[in-house]
Amino acid sequence: LPERPLAAYENFFRFVLVDDVRDVKVITIRRPEALNALHDELTDEILAVISRSEADPGVRGFVITGYGNRAFSAGADIGRFPKMLGDAEAAAQYARDCSRLLLHIDRMNKPVVAALNGMALGGGLELALRCHGIVALRGASLSFPEILLGIVPGLGAMVVPYRRWPKAAQKFHGMVLRGETMSATTARDLGMLDGLADECAGMIEAAVARVHALHGGVQPPHDGAVAIPAPQLGEAVSASGQKLSVEVADILRQAVVEAAAAPTFNAALEIGYRAFGRSACTAAAREGIDAFLQRRPPDFSKTG
Ligand code: COA
Repeated sequence: LPERPLAAYENFFRFVLVDDVRDVKVITIRRPEALNALHDELTDEILAVISRSEADPGVRGFVITGYGNRAFSAGADIGRFPKMLGDAEAAAQYARDCSRLLLHIDRMNKPVVAALNGMALGGGLELALRCHGIVALRGASLSFPEILLGIVPGLGAMVVPYRRWPKAAQKFHGMVLRGETMSATTARDLGMLDGLADECAGMIEAAVARVHALHGGVQPPHDGAVAIPAPQLGEAVSASGQKLSVEVADILRQAVVEAAAAPTFNAALEIGYRAFGRSACTAAAREGIDAFLQRRPPDFSKTG
């Protein structure tokens, strides 16, 4: 028979693994059945691991990686989307709520380094881009597929990469507006990654070394506007030739321009949350998300 109260047996992490490597907490996102897609319970577990050891002088910082060899994370859990479609305020609030972990990382003094063991998509990439450093396996890839779902990436994709690496703005335009994929080697060449590794153990070692190198030197996100070329809409067609929603592409274009001009980092994020809310009210969002959940290609030809 159990000797302790039931709650004592329920006190374990369900969606992450935690390892200690050379004074660094290595947090592994573990939802392989959904390619490590993120939901609130999972990101709250990451936040709990960080909060528990942040003040511990024996912990130098954190690494976040993904379980398995396919994905760091396939982004936000699309199964949770249908309930906020059609309500701009609820969807914007959903984006704010999903950002708890990201906003916490923004305020941290100890470094968090993402180790991309495979695909980093959508919200998964938004998490990685908020970390203070990123390393990756050579075969990893980065993309924002939200436009293929008829929505915009609302947790910082329209803000953070542009502010951190403004010279690569044209590449980011292609990623957010056309769903283009960026290889880890291109990301490294653009200065986004701190290192590439050929296998997992080497990647974790590089991430831990990066935490040690960043220790004591973590900077908060910069405020102020950033000068970038405005995205050109052109034809609303994805990199793979799929027709996209003109309405959603326009919401995205406007948000990128407004966020770049925003006076503070948080004001820019807020523009992203609201744009996500607007996109969630389009016919394209309903079609894109239904299509994903029904495992069929979306048809945006009648959605505007
Ligand atoms: N949310 C919820 N579940 C997801 C997911 C996500 N973001 N990404 C993948 N999954 C699930 C799939 O539904 C599938 O579950 P099932 O086996 O119960 O049907 C499982 O993970 C494996 O994915 P699957 O699509 O079968 O693998 P694949 O190799 O054919 O395709 C991807 C891989 C990444 C191309 C495809 O899963 C995908 O497009 N995912 C969505 C990515 C995305 O748009 N992310 C941004 C979200 S805002």
